[in-house]
Amino acid sequence: MNDAHLLLVWRNDPEVIRYSRHNIPQTDVVGHMKWVRSRVHGRHGEIYRVIETNDGIPVGLVWTTFDPDGDDVPEVHYRIDPWWRHRGIASTAVPIFIEQMVNVIRGGAFKCPIIKGNVPSEHLAARLGLHPGSEAPLSRDDPRVLVEWIK
Ligand SMILES: CC(C)(COP(=O)(O)OP(=O)(O)OC[C@H]1O[C@@H](n2cnc3c(N)ncnc32)[C@H](O)[C@@H]1OP(=O)(O)O)[C@@H](O)C(=O)NCCC(=O)NCCS
Repeated sequence: MNDAHLLLVWRNDPEVIRYSRHNIPQTDVVGHMKWVRSRVHGRHGEIYRVIETNDGIPVGLVWTTFDPDGDDVPEVHYRIDPWWRHRGIASTAVPIFIEQMVNVIRGGAFKCPIIKGNVPSEHLAARLGLHPGSEAPLSRDDPRVLVEWIK
């Protein structure tokens, strides 16, 4: 809960919005806090972890979700505070999360949905051993292409 305000700042970062399936800034603080509480209490079967530096500075978030209309394979998502990007933090932290969380709980299967052209995320997915799979426009109103990176 200590990092709740940071989660909202990261959620509203322009680069996060640009590459989010739901590319709308989150402005409703009450709704945000309700969302944080439900995640802290571990509902939905999803796992959320704040990434910290060795000094305990929160610098990002990594988490899993499940597509209610899709298969049972967890999706792994990540975002790093803009100031801390391109320093190898996601490359270090996301594989640890996958090894400790996803591998143990789900037997190793996972995927990363990435908006085409999100170069840092594509590099990271390749580093995780994933390859671009099926792709489709997000919706009729949103021509951005979502690529499913899979093993
Ligand atoms: C994607 C993201 C989490 C990567 O985090 P990061 O800590 O900056 O990543 P790293 O420093 O570990 O770099 C990962 C790879 O991306 C590359 N990279 C990082 N920033 C880059 C940039 N601005 N331009 C080009 N490549 C970049 C790195 O060189 C590395 O590639 P390599 O393995 O081929 O060397 C971060 O850019 C971010 O939070 N972006 C906004 C949110 C987002 O897009 N989330 C993912 C949605 S699918």
